[in-house]
Amino acid sequence: MSARIVVKETKIAPDDARREIVLRVFRFNAEFDVLPAYNDFALKVAQSETLLDALNRIKAETDATLSYRRSCRHGICGSCAVVVENQAALACKANLFDFADRYGEILTIDPLDKSLAIKDLIVDKTRFWESYRAVSPWLETPADDAPTQENLIAPETADRLNGADACIECGICFYGCPVVAANECFLGPAALTKTYRFVADIRDQAANDRLRFVDREKSGVWDCVKCYKCQESCPKALNPIEKIMRLRETGFERKTIGDSIASRHAKAFKTSIVKLGRLDETANVLESLGFFAALKHIRAAFAMLRKGKIPIGITKIDKLDEVKKLVKSASRSQE
Ligand code: FES
Repeated sequence: MSARIVVKETKIAPDDARREIVLRVFRFNAEFDVLPAYNDFALKVAQSETLLDALNRIKAETDATLSYRRSCRHGICGSCAVVVENQAALACKANLFDFADRYGEILTIDPLDKSLAIKDLIVDKTRFWESYRAVSPWLETPADDAPTQENLIAPETADRLNGADACIECGICFYGCPVVAANECFLGPAALTKTYRFVADIRDQAANDRLRFVDREKSGVWDCVKCYKCQESCPKALNPIEKIMRLRETGFERKTIGDSIASRHAKAFKTSIVKLGRLDETANVLESLGFFAALKHIRAAFAMLRKGKIPIGITKIDKLDEVKKLVKSASRSQE
């Protein structure tokens, strides 16, 4: 850790309205450095200042080599995403007083993924953009060479996009997703949200192809583990997991879902709930994997049986009709 660097003061508020904060900033230059380090920058900030304001001051007045991405300063371009105290945020929307209230006066600032740092807070987003490009993020519709008017849709129809068109491609959901970290084929929440955006658009004519594309094992909707990290972290509150679940439902509805362990698992889950009002895990394994594939797990199954971990003779619950009504109202498909 290098010595603390004091950033020159900029008078933007009276002294008593300001607060001294230390930004402990990740520093690394992939061209020269073997290991990263942190620099401490001490500065007095006003209540209205954001992290991006502070980084701009450091760069302008103290250390011009500090590198980070930014453009719009209004939460629109998505380029300034960083991690503040292990919490991903847009630097231009991260109020420093708020963060200091929660975490104290020393705030650690990291890139979205330290292993992908190119220079300081700038990460290599190649994989993010490759995933994004893979889902054809444009409207597939016959283009009129000489249109005389815009291709408008009614507000009620636009509501079906459910905010998915407001994604700013900041990458926060992508780099925070544990499946993206563990599975290099997974498209990730942003690309799947973009897929939903076009599937829900009545003007798009490639919706079924899109649904088939994201039905693929290892890369598509079935690999989401429903950890809700993307929902918690999206700075635009777009709830990407909801879009992923809607893609699954729409796939069943339009019959674009292929036969896979994941889709059989989803169907078996519903069958069990409708039949018994609860989950019959043994039947679910058999139906998802198929009898012969399930045989591979026979030793583990016996071990679990001996320890009482596999319930025998699951019976219907008393209020099965109530559960059936709930299932009906919650699902639009999978019949
Ligand atoms: S600078 Fe554009 S979102 Fe922050």
